Amino acid sequence: MEIKREQWGSRLGFILAAAGSAVGLGNIWKFPYLVGENGGAAFIVLYLICIVLVGLPVVIAEILIGRTAQKNPVGSFRELSKGNPFWIAVGGLGVITGFLILSYYNVIAGWSLGYVIESIKGSFRQFNDPESAGQLFNSLSSQPYWTLTFHAAFMILTVAIIYAGVTKGIERASKFMMPMLLFLIIVLVIRGITLNGAGEGVRYLLKADFSAISGKTFMIALGQAFFSLSLGMGALLTYGSYMSKNENIPNSALSIVFLDTLIAILAGFMIFPAVFAMGLKPAQGPSLIFNVLPVMFNAIPGGYIFRIVFFLLLSMAALTSTISLLEVITTFVVDEFNFSRKKVSVILGGIVFLIGVPSAMSFCGWQKFTIFGLTCFGLVDFISANIFLPLGGIFIALFVGWFWGTRKALPYLLEGTKNFPGVITAT
Ligand code: PFF
Repeated sequence: MEIKREQWGSRLGFILAAAGSAVGLGNIWKFPYLVGENGGAAFIVLYLICIVLVGLPVVIAEILIGRTAQKNPVGSFRELSKGNPFWIAVGGLGVITGFLILSYYNVIAGWSLGYVIESIKGSFRQFNDPESAGQLFNSLSSQPYWTLTFHAAFMILTVAIIYAGVTKGIERASKFMMPMLLFLIIVLVIRGITLNGAGEGVRYLLKADFSAISGKTFMIALGQAFFSLSLGMGALLTYGSYMSKNENIPNSALSIVFLDTLIAILAGFMIFPAVFAMGLKPAQGPSLIFNVLPVMFNAIPGGYIFRIVFFLLLSMAALTSTISLLEVITTFVVDEFNFSRKKVSVILGGIVFLIGVPSAMSFCGWQKFTIFGLTCFGLVDFISANIFLPLGGIFIALFVGWFWGTRKALPYLLEGTKNFPGVITAT
């Protein structure tokens, strides 16, 4: 017996849930450190080009596949390709990528949750320089007990929301968390750019030096565009499968892409002016925000409270992303094997936690264990974000544009749109 598929309660609910998936550690934690490591403004320009030329069309294509087939990634490709094994495997690649990303993403999400507790304990209060914050970061992240506890705690939170379902869990959580996050980031941007000596940081973000750009930088920018938009692994496809046929896909896609890009750029303006004001080097790698922000709050009235709220919101931003990752793999198992959603979410959460343990240990004891010069964490990140996601994106584009064909796909895209500029309806 087929159970009726859940649908989003409202258009806004879908947009906020999808934007919630897109906006996460990728925007606030990863984007700033990639900008810092890859030449500042020039990297941002390259990133924006990737977002507009590649990201937006693939977002539309991915939502379209999901909404038309109303299934998980594997089921959707199977249905629309009429059982072609190659395209089914593309859906399968998405599910595997979901496993991999969630396994290491959840470790960083766990750090931000751990920082909520540290902030409540007042651990950063006496810090005047990022070096001391950096020392605390190193000492915390190098303790297996600390890292694994929060890795587990975060997975439990993620499972709890998926357990509750689409409208009761995902939609409700996103509607509440997204607006709060935007507000707090704006407060921090204002504080950052008004710090003494912040001007250099603002210039760093605005003055593009294209000599820093190479083929590798381009790959990193493209990988980040996919990662940040949650693209290429069926997350938006899965969310699209809960979307009604009366909704306008291109408009929703534009809102999602706009919100995601806005928050990444704002995160840059939140961090870099402060980095320069404190005399730091921009290329700090993954610990950047954990070193800079705790100290920055000491320069704000009410900093103690703001710091707690910030790390809480960072955790929430991560949570709206981890739930989308777990949702992809959960829907896959629920749709394909007809198991109960509740049981599946708990079991998969446990498996992903275990797969994530080597990534977590990359910071606490297993630093020296490397493959191709990368730690377990670095390797899983590289393979999934820089190879699997763009690959998935290329296949999604080929599927809609070539295999399914724009002529056949277009009527489905037009469902829910009153007028879509530049379209000549095929007859
Ligand atoms: N887009 C999320 C971020 O920027 O933090 C990460 C992510 C979520 C990637 C979901 C992929 C995905 F399917």
